[in-house]
Amino acid sequence: MMNMPPFAHERVEIRHDEATNLTAIIAMHSTRLGPAAGGCRRWRYADVGEAITDALRLSEGMTLKNALAGLPFGGGKSVILADDQPRPTAEQLAVFAGWLNELNGRYVTAEDVGMGVAEMRSMAATSPYVSGLGADGIGGDPSPKTAYGVFVGLKTAVQFALGVEHLHGVRVGVQGLGAVGMSLCHWLVRAGAEVTATDINPARVREARERYRVRGVGPDELLKAEMDVFAPCALGGVIDDEVASILEVRVVAGAANNQLLDATAGEILAERGVVYAPDFVINAGGVISVAHEYLLQRGQFTETVDHSVERWVGERIDAISHRLLDILQQAAASGTSTDGVARRLAREAVAAGRANPARAA
Ligand code: NAI
Repeated sequence: MMNMPPFAHERVEIRHDEATNLTAIIAMHSTRLGPAAGGCRRWRYADVGEAITDALRLSEGMTLKNALAGLPFGGGKSVILADDQPRPTAEQLAVFAGWLNELNGRYVTAEDVGMGVAEMRSMAATSPYVSGLGADGIGGDPSPKTAYGVFVGLKTAVQFALGVEHLHGVRVGVQGLGAVGMSLCHWLVRAGAEVTATDINPARVREARERYRVRGVGPDELLKAEMDVFAPCALGGVIDDEVASILEVRVVAGAANNQLLDATAGEILAERGVVYAPDFVINAGGVISVAHEYLLQRGQFTETVDHSVERWVGERIDAISHRLLDILQQAAASGTSTDGVARRLAREAVAAGRANPARAA
């Protein structure tokens, strides 16, 4: 089996542009299944080292996510170190897009935290290696697709753990009410779940309360609330060994990348009988959407003969359920963590070079 230790990346670019004061990291973890694909995050990092670590971790996660989703893409991620401006300037985006061009399609980007459709469209004026543009109503903002995929995965995990086929009366705690968390609330409430939600931004909690009648709590109160399911939808690393040891839930299923601080946290959850739906399995809805938008733009989407793209994407997202169930069953049978099983399956897929027929150049 292929040996892929952490941070065995193919290529990492650390770039700075003096004129626009732009600093960015572009991490290409693997191009074995196709171009390294993964969003561009703009975040206020403490220093360049923290940004590099984030890009390395996130790009490795994209390799696993894209491989398990059966996409003809490898894994990559870029991060921009946010300056004092609330949004990146058009000049900064043009410089970043120029860097993409230098990589000649080896890395393909899309939206992530701090970078929306407007930024992608701006970069697309300079570079063709950008997706999530939403031209002609296809694709665009990946967040709603991510939220729907997380909902599908959450329901599957609940069915596995609690033996119920519906979410009626199931108590779900949503941490983070951004683009994905808010949209997840929509699906959960519609399915009859009892949702308690939080965000460090009180305005988001107010909005969720008004729109979906969820119970809003402060950021420190959520983990103390009575929940069947914890859905982390803010940032990564929320489940360390200590949280894993005391978390009183049956299921963890959310959107945030890298929810487990390390592999031990996943093992502790498994030992305690908490069903963890691996983040990179259930949050793939967004990349499924932008990947197909990208292939379509380039005339490389070959499966549209009797399928609309939207339907194809919808079917792929619904397939998250089968993929997750297989992982949960294998983990239960072998007494290992679900995260460990999912990583093994993804690495095997990469090693075998198993790609989708609609392979990108
Ligand atoms: P976002 O930036 O729109 O929302 C994040 C929200 O979390 C914000 O409202 C923020 O105030 C809140 N937050 C931050 N720290 C918090 C804390 N400690 N407690 C409570 N709330 C906190 O981001 P988005 O797009 O909703 O993504 C959420 C997570 O899902 C991120 O980890 C992202 O990497 C991941 N993800 C997103 C995808 C997408 O399509 N947008 C795709 C796959 C993963």
